[in-house]
This record gives sequence, structure tokens and C-alpha cells, in this order.
Amino acid sequence: MWSLFRIFVGNDIMRIDIITLLPELLNSPLNHSIINRARKAGVIEIIVHDLRDYSTDKHKNVDDYAFSGEAGMVMQIEPIDRAISKLKSEREYSDIIYTSPDGENFNQKIANELSTKENVIILCGHYKGVDQRVRDHLITREISIGDYVLTGGELAAAIITDAITRLLPGAMSDESSALSDSFQDDLLSPAVYTRPANYKGWKVPEVLLSGNPKKIEEWKYNNALERTKNRRPDLLSEEDM
Ligand code: ADE
Repeated sequence: MWSLFRIFVGNDIMRIDIITLLPELLNSPLNHSIINRARKAGVIEIIVHDLRDYSTDKHKNVDDYAFSGEAGMVMQIEPIDRAISKLKSEREYSDIIYTSPDGENFNQKIANELSTKENVIILCGHYKGVDQRVRDHLITREISIGDYVLTGGELAAAIITDAITRLLPGAMSDESSALSDSFQDDLLSPAVYTRPANYKGWKVPEVLLSGNPKKIEEWKYNNALERTKNRRPDLLSEEDM
């Protein structure tokens, strides 16, 4: 549905700019498999920027001590503002995201929403985080990928980019498979099986071998509902339970 929305509104190719202190860390996740293919096919443009390129310090430093005396360095506003301002002078951005453990929890709904945007910047946090004025004046959205603390925001940025990219039209060879993902209908995905139909006596459910599409659809729905009840009852409404 979200992919179709993108086709109907006729968006240009989506662009994600990632600003980071560790560009190499993003090399592998953004240059393999579906994301790599999507980039090559012109489905998405992903540009990684080294924040140090925007430092005017002779040692390319981009951090300093916290005024509050807390241990740990704080990312300074100047290079970040310079990087974001340069990008904003070149095109419009729908969202400027900061990855941080105290942001809103990332989920499929946010991935769907972001996949409809045209251009997005992701600023990766590091050290003790960024000067609060960055968050107050330059950032439009703060996202956490879970209630745990990583050494930096790069892996979070890679996860957010991955979840968005696979939703874009043309990213997956079988478009419908993104639509039948877990969480897309507030249900987890049903179990899947492949050949052999009988392995050491562990059998594939009979109905899946029946060739009856209606019965198979019914089984898939019931299996998805049952799994969701057992594993993630919080996703279901009262009447589903
Ligand atoms: N940076 C450090 N921990 C993070 C998290 N859980 N989510 C997003 N960015 C982070």
C-alpha cells in the first residue's frame, strides 16, 4: 500500500543523506544484497557524509567537553549545522532524523511513513550525544532502534535505511513480499515451509500441499493470528484475542 502511494504521488527517487563520524562503518550494510541492488537500480540514493569534512578545526575535531562537567565528549553544533545547512541549500528535506536511545521507538509504521518521504537526513549520534541546541533547532525527529545503548548511531542509521529501502517500489524482486511482512497488518508473518515435504518425519502442514488457494490463505491467516497471540499479544485488539 505504501509502495503504491509512492507510485501514485509520483515521487522522484528517494534520497537519504547520512552524516556520521564513522563512514566506514556504514560501508558493508549499505553495499550488499537488496540495498546495494536498489542503489544500483536507481530506486534509492544513499549518500554518506563524513562529519569531519565540515570541521574547521585544524585537527578535524568535532567534539568538546560538556559544560556540565559530565564525563564524555559532546558533539559540537558548528560542524553539524554546516553539514545540514549545505544539504538543505541543495534540496528540500522532509525529515532530519537524529539517532539516539532516547528517541521514539522505531517500528514498521515509522518505516512505512519514512518510505513515502522524498529526502531524509540521518545524523548519527556519538560519545555523550550532540549539543542539545542541535536537537532543539536542527532536528525534526529523533529515533531509537530499541531500549539499549549502542556505541554510536551508525548501526541504527543502517537499520532505519534498510527498513525504508526494502519498502520502495522496485527494491525487492517480489514486491508483494514486503507487503506480507510481519507487522504490516499488525500481525506477525505466518510460518513458511519448503521442500522436502517430509523431513525425518517432520511434516509440512497437509493443507499447504493441497493446492487449494482459499484453504491455504485461510491457514496463513489463522497461523499468523495464532503466532501473534502467542508472541506479541500487544499487537492485537480485544476482539482479535
Ligand atoms: N545510539 C546509541 N544507542 C542507540 C539506540 N538504541 N537507537 C538509536 N541510536 C542509538
